[in-house]
Amino acid sequence: MAILVTGADGYIGWPVMLKLSREFPDERIVGVDNFGRRRWVEEIGSVSALPIVSMEERLEVARETGSSNLSFIEGDLSDRAFVQQLYATFRPRVVLHLAAQPSAPYSEINGERANYTQENNTASTRNLLWGLKENNLLESVFVETTTTGVYGQPDIDIPEGYLEVERNGKRGTVIYPGMAGSWYHMSKCHDVNNLWLANRQWKLSVIDLRTAITYGTTTEETQADPRLATRFDFDFYFGVVVNRFAAQALAGYPITVYGKGGLKRPMIGLQDAVDSIVAAARREPDQKFEIFNQTSGPVGIQEIADGIQSIGAEMGIPVQVDHLPNPRVEKEEHQMVMENTRFMTELLPHPTIDINDGLRDTLQNLLPYRDTLLAYKDRFIPEQLLKREPVAG
Ligand SMILES: NC(=O)c1ccc[n+]([C@@H]2O[C@H](COP(=O)([O-])OP(=O)(O)OC[C@H]3O[C@@H](n4cnc5c(N)ncnc54)[C@H](O)[C@@H]3O)[C@@H](O)[C@H]2O)c1
Repeated sequence: MAILVTGADGYIGWPVMLKLSREFPDERIVGVDNFGRRRWVEEIGSVSALPIVSMEERLEVARETGSSNLSFIEGDLSDRAFVQQLYATFRPRVVLHLAAQPSAPYSEINGERANYTQENNTASTRNLLWGLKENNLLESVFVETTTTGVYGQPDIDIPEGYLEVERNGKRGTVIYPGMAGSWYHMSKCHDVNNLWLANRQWKLSVIDLRTAITYGTTTEETQADPRLATRFDFDFYFGVVVNRFAAQALAGYPITVYGKGGLKRPMIGLQDAVDSIVAAARREPDQKFEIFNQTSGPVGIQEIADGIQSIGAEMGIPVQVDHLPNPRVEKEEHQMVMENTRFMTELLPHPTIDINDGLRDTLQNLLPYRDTLLAYKDRFIPEQLLKREPVAG
């Protein structure tokens, strides 16, 4: 028996590999990655704040610390022949599909990056779905971390995937439409539709985790040895808002809130994201298309900046908060009210961390790497944005 993890070298994928190895000691955990994320971050001139070692060394250290059931294959999932070979060799009972180019700003640098993002992400997902069909693996469970970004910023409260509709006196349930606000997020809308199609056509059991902004530095398993650390990006393109703000604070750089900061965004701590993905790997095939909003709840952008400022003060680090014109097309005050009851009940019954503890841990764990943050602080915000007029807080 095997569990396949795509994107195994990534921020979430690597800690998922480590946790699966402990939770399923009798199964082979097969990771796949093409190291795209390492290249993209290098390309935009940044680094992971926490030093990360090669996959070879990661696996060696994992083995020394008791994980003897991990395998890794380097390859590109957008290559159909590679995926066919992978399935023919390992015949996984679960596919945890985490591989993607996951940055909205990167996908919007130019048309070439937009194409690359959509082609890479949707081709990889299609190859993985069709590969299951063509290798007689439709009894497997397919899990993808899509994104809460597929919902856009609607004026209604966001359901957990499905929408009740009534028209001309008739009622029905439809998948919430893909209303993403970036070319990356739209790649996940295309994925959602293809997942749904695979479920309807072939009765493939699909779990679509609408993953929220994931923040934090460590999980229980990555803490076992510094060489098991997962990456931590803080630059404009790849640093998610909490991680970027924490890094800015420690570098003595003002926290750059876009607009007035009235916006709320769904969040989840790294440990909780990993725990709930591992919980999904326990589910039996049920021929359903299940959607879970993988978030412990929305958090205000200004609230994060304020939280970092007050924890900074406790740590003796003065933190300034600046407001910049928003480079993104988004509603300034959107509250992102989102149902997550099924997610919290079925996949994350024991959340480990709330936002304030998460901010504190992140700041403390990053503190030893302040020199790296200082050396790369010109990566926080592209110069052209800094030249625009600041907005009043
Ligand atoms: N981190 C977040 O805040 C967040 C939020 C919402 C959704 N997600 C989704 O969760 C998943 C994991 O995110 P992450 O933050 O760990 O990103 P990540 O970039 O660190 O991990 C993704 C991994 O996939 C690999 N990859 C990409 N394309 C590939 C291909 N064609 N073949 C093989 N490997 C490939 C990359 O090299 C990378 O290591 C992604 O699907 C992302 O879209 C993440």
